[in-house]
Amino acid sequence: MKKPYPPIYYSEYLHLEKLLTSQSPKSDEYNQHAHDEMLFIIVHQAYELWFKQILHELDSVLEMFQENVIDERNIGIAVSRLRRITTIQKVLVDQLNILETMTPLDFLEFRDFLIPASGFQSYQFRLIENKLGLNPESRVKLDNKNYYSLVSDEHQKMLIDSQNTISVIEAVDKWLSRIPFLKMDDFDFWSYYKEAVSKLIENEKQIILNNPSLTDEKREKQLKEFENTKQKFDSLLDEEKHNALIKQGLKRFSYKSTLAALFINLYRDEPVLHLPFRFLTYLVDIDELFTTWRYKHALMVHRMIGAKVGTGGSSGHHYLMETAEKHKVFRDLFDLSTYLIPRSSLPELPSGLKLKLGFNYFS
Ligand code: HEM
Repeated sequence: MKKPYPPIYYSEYLHLEKLLTSQSPKSDEYNQHAHDEMLFIIVHQAYELWFKQILHELDSVLEMFQENVIDERNIGIAVSRLRRITTIQKVLVDQLNILETMTPLDFLEFRDFLIPASGFQSYQFRLIENKLGLNPESRVKLDNKNYYSLVSDEHQKMLIDSQNTISVIEAVDKWLSRIPFLKMDDFDFWSYYKEAVSKLIENEKQIILNNPSLTDEKREKQLKEFENTKQKFDSLLDEEKHNALIKQGLKRFSYKSTLAALFINLYRDEPVLHLPFRFLTYLVDIDELFTTWRYKHALMVHRMIGAKVGTGGSSGHHYLMETAEKHKVFRDLFDLSTYLIPRSSLPELPSGLKLKLGFNYFS
């Protein structure tokens, strides 16, 4: 039987001609051949290809989460796409090792030819940050300039557009705020939770007060820390306090979404909550893996250029360490662990609610 599609050649399908003639070392152009420049170009190109794949996955997740009612079957698909992103990110972290086979001296052979180009201008990297939802206000500024001031007009437009389009953190916030189970019929989960937390907190205070091995000074210090934890719990269970934290830029999820995310984390063993739990966990993984990449890149830069400034004009290593500290997106999800209490102290859910959270088949 004749195949309905014409045959295709491997190289044509992958546009290898284009791909494999896209490496043009500057050192050759200037007749000062530097062997390692090829590695430098190929490693960066490989990164950009993986950034493209990450954007492809993020766009599809964003599309699913923009609907007012999310088709529940899509949660499983979104989870598998986020998992794919984290798997790529692990390769991205490891890939820096390949570049580190180039010594700082080898890098010096061609570094000056690159000025003022820098990874700082990677618009795909910025698109990933924006699509995940990095807050423009909390970006570390380079010479008081906007992060997009060093890219072409075309890329600037793309970045500004992406900044003004709904991001993953915003879409997830909306989705979480719609999740039911927080107050059902006559069962107000949060008043039970508050009671369980109060008991736990009181217990902790008693442990500090009655610990014979503590000096007065240490006891006072621990009581202070205990007060901080107590205040965090108070803000979780107080909408006004939570909204004040949003105003100060310390929280991004709404009060309702924060409670929903916490509920999902606390009762993740309930079948219906398991996929949402994995979804939220992958978002934390993505943040953690980008932070890992940022630290590893900053360390590599330190070892490659020492205390010199970057080709893009930043303070180099110092600027990059600061972005690693400050460019997390899903801080709210990281912070949730503050509010977790042991399974044994969790309020028992009423049987009607438990039934709704399970997989049931009634013939
Ligand atoms: C010898 C290797 C490298 C050196 C010395 C280096 C150096 C730097 C420096 C100094 C900066 C800060 C901006 C500047 O002043 O230029 C920077 C930013 C950046 N680099 Fe690299 N880099 C290297 C490899 C890579 C690779 C392989 C990638 C992969 C795409 C990359 C991606 C980035 C990105 C995305 C930024 C912006 C980070 C941010 O603003 O948070 N770099 N790089």
